[in-house]
Amino acid sequence: MPLLTTENQHGVNQPVAWVHLHHILHNFRIAQSLAPQSKVMAVIKADGYGHGAQPIANILEEADNLAVARVHEAITLRQAGCNKPIVILEGFLGVLEYNLCLQHNLVPVVHCVEQLELLVDLEGNQQQRASFTSMPVWIKLDSGMHRLGFDEKQLSQSVSKLNQLNIVGVMSHMANADNQLHPLNEIQLNHFNSMLRNFAENTEQALANSAATMQLQMSHLQWIRPGIMLYGSSGSAGGPSGSLMKDGQQLLPGMTLSAPVISTRQIRAGEEIGYGSIWRAEVDCRVAVVGLGYGDGYPREMPQGTPVLVNGQRRRLVGRVSMDLLYVLLAADDQVEPGHHIQFWGNDLPIDEIAEHAGTIAYTLMTGLTGRVKRIYQN
Ligand SMILES: Cc1ncc(COP(=O)(O)O)c(C=O)c1O
Repeated sequence: MPLLTTENQHGVNQPVAWVHLHHILHNFRIAQSLAPQSKVMAVIKADGYGHGAQPIANILEEADNLAVARVHEAITLRQAGCNKPIVILEGFLGVLEYNLCLQHNLVPVVHCVEQLELLVDLEGNQQQRASFTSMPVWIKLDSGMHRLGFDEKQLSQSVSKLNQLNIVGVMSHMANADNQLHPLNEIQLNHFNSMLRNFAENTEQALANSAATMQLQMSHLQWIRPGIMLYGSSGSAGGPSGSLMKDGQQLLPGMTLSAPVISTRQIRAGEEIGYGSIWRAEVDCRVAVVGLGYGDGYPREMPQGTPVLVNGQRRRLVGRVSMDLLYVLLAADDQVEPGHHIQFWGNDLPIDEIAEHAGTIAYTLMTGLTGRVKRIYQN
């Protein structure tokens, strides 16, 4: 596994997310191999789950479609030169966004009656134009998550309007795909299937996020929509082995987060450090003060004892994380000086494990990294 290089960061007080583009491509190919009959809509919303949507769009040339949540995310990609089909998972909110979808050749998801009526109205006004072609759209169904999508009643009341659209596919989203045994999985699958009777027989279907791609073969259908697995996480608090597939394939981390030591200090037995003085040294020791904090997206809630890597060895966080700084308890023989980078997650330190320490999931850690963290792309 390639090691980080801190050469071009030495002397710079800024945390770095080393984005492993080749790992993301590797993970994408695992998704493909798990659902070989399906096309892949690679989910790169929230700036590619914090990794940078544009470089990921570039490396995922093999993806059949890209998907983001919002229109403006897709426009940013278009402006950066991305000309792949982009699906807008939340569709358009009004006329302005409808026009932007047209202008930028985006494929919105229509998930509610208001969007449907707006679309039918706007297209109705244009139908006289010889050059008019209906905008391609996905339709979202609520199969049981009750977040977005047409329910059974709305669907049956909307049939005539839906028939006027250029529908490329029908999708739904699963609420509990990360729990293979959850009874709602089968209920959602059945419900989705039964709602399909309202659409032409050859309408394409998409249901599976990462967890469903990895665990629920029945949900693969014509399209899968993996997000978190592309970035190397299983999505749930599965710990170190969470990213290991049943067939032995292993997801690889999409990023490694590191930050420089700003200072090291000798702490005497009985002395406390940091805000709230929540940690007291039991014996004389050395602590590294590191340039990383909640202002960078490393949560203040990260508890003492959370592992970090110092020269590849596990050490632990002590004291309270502040806005720009945190503390790592060093071993006596650790070779560490200011400028030296310490790793907080990534290669050899799974983000799922770190998320578990903070009582959260990898999604929030990845997407929570702020603009203060420099992204460095490694092929
Ligand atoms: C509609 C939809 N499809 C797919 C995904 C990808 O999900 P995951 O990151 O769990 O693979 C998301 C993400 O939340 C989503 O909202």
